[in-house]
Amino acid sequence: MSSRCAVCPGSFDPPTWGHLSLVERGVLLFDRVIVAVAYNSSKAALFSPEERVEMLRESLAGYDPDRVVVDSFDGLLVDYARRQGAVAILRGLRATGDFEYEFQMAMVNQQLAPGIQSVFMMTDARWLHLSSTIVKEAAFYGVDLSAMVPPPVAVRLREKLGRPSPAVSV
Ligand code: PNS
Repeated sequence: MSSRCAVCPGSFDPPTWGHLSLVERGVLLFDRVIVAVAYNSSKAALFSPEERVEMLRESLAGYDPDRVVVDSFDGLLVDYARRQGAVAILRGLRATGDFEYEFQMAMVNQQLAPGIQSVFMMTDARWLHLSSTIVKEAAFYGVDLSAMVPPPVAVRLREKLGRPSPAVSV
């Protein structure tokens, strides 16, 4: 039987528990999930693509390397997905705010590569409120990040933003 591969693309600036939850559930559906950091994201990034790849590799180290791969790509997502032999693009959906952008992207990708299916999974309710943007803001203010990002990412955020240990809430 042929093995089914999905590309799970994103900026991952930085990866959050929400991203990891998507990968965890993605491997239930696909034989192989390639977590792919986009080089050419239109967003200004805090971390370099190399740093984002490293954080993902550290955070996903517990998986069978044949099932979960971390990589990066430049250019069009569908071209990368084709080169990898992927049958699907896997994305997470939080509340309604994500829908319009995801819908547009899925339509364009469908036009460019009708053979690759966009698959969306609803975010685990525990991570519904999380985004990389809010995580960066929380890190800037010294908030305890343990409920937002895996430990290797929390360490990098603190290094990057020059903040000491988590603030004690009063
Ligand atoms: O985590 P993000 O920022 O929502 O991820 C968006 C991403 C990187 C998946 C998207 O911007 C993307 O696919 N970029 C590569 C260029 C591309 O193929 N764009 C869509 C067709 S024009």
